[in-house]
Amino acid sequence: MSKNDVSISVIKRLPRYYRFLGELKDQGMVRISSKDLSTRMGLTASQIRQDFNCFGGFGQQGYGYNIESLYSEIGSILGVNIQKKAILIGAGNLGKAISEHMHFEKRGFNLIGIFDKNSALSGQILRGLPVRHTDGLYDFCKDNKPEIAVLCIPNTAAQELVGQLIDLGINGFWNFSHFDIASNYSNIAVENVHLSDSLMTLSYQVENIK
Ligand code: NAI
Repeated sequence: MSKNDVSISVIKRLPRYYRFLGELKDQGMVRISSKDLSTRMGLTASQIRQDFNCFGGFGQQGYGYNIESLYSEIGSILGVNIQKKAILIGAGNLGKAISEHMHFEKRGFNLIGIFDKNSALSGQILRGLPVRHTDGLYDFCKDNKPEIAVLCIPNTAAQELVGQLIDLGINGFWNFSHFDIASNYSNIAVENVHLSDSLMTLSYQVENIK
């Protein structure tokens, strides 16, 4: 199976495997069976084997997976060792929180620029980077060639900016705005994050507890 054939639902489970394995590694564990991993993660052992088989199975022998090498193989599938240059647009409440608190580097991203259209924010330091005015976005992208944009701006602002960012070489969006990028642009990687969806899912679950 080529990487392109792997379903998005399998890909979406990989970060969780990576996180669990990282924790087990930090606890000093060396090997784990798919059964033990499945119990810890609330999945079935067969689901785990199926997921891992999409990438060649990671060589489980009778006595389980080597945690260190599984962690590193999943990390390399996720591309966490290849630093992709990213910019963040919108240094408001959300943008500040994301820029200051996310471990971008550990996940394969190097945040190199933060932009906002509000000149009152220009020069403010977030994560060691000065907030830049969006007037400088074009030159900055031409000089530094970021591939990823983190959008912490309102829907209307995102609608206006996304096309320009794609023209400037951005090919992946971590999208906190409510603009539906994927429906409007093709061949662009988009990961939407909607905290309110998660909250409403919780609401449904709470309402339906027996
Ligand atoms: P905020 O008002 O504190 O910050 C928005 C920032 O974006 C401001 O600093 C503003 O100057 C800047 N901005 C607006 N248009 C811009 C443009 N064209 N170029 C560059 N900067 C621009 O708002 P907050 O709380 O940070 O939220 C930002 C957006 O994220 C909101 O529209 C909100 O709907 C959305 N949001 C999404 C969440 C999610 O889970 N996906 C959670 C919270 C907010």
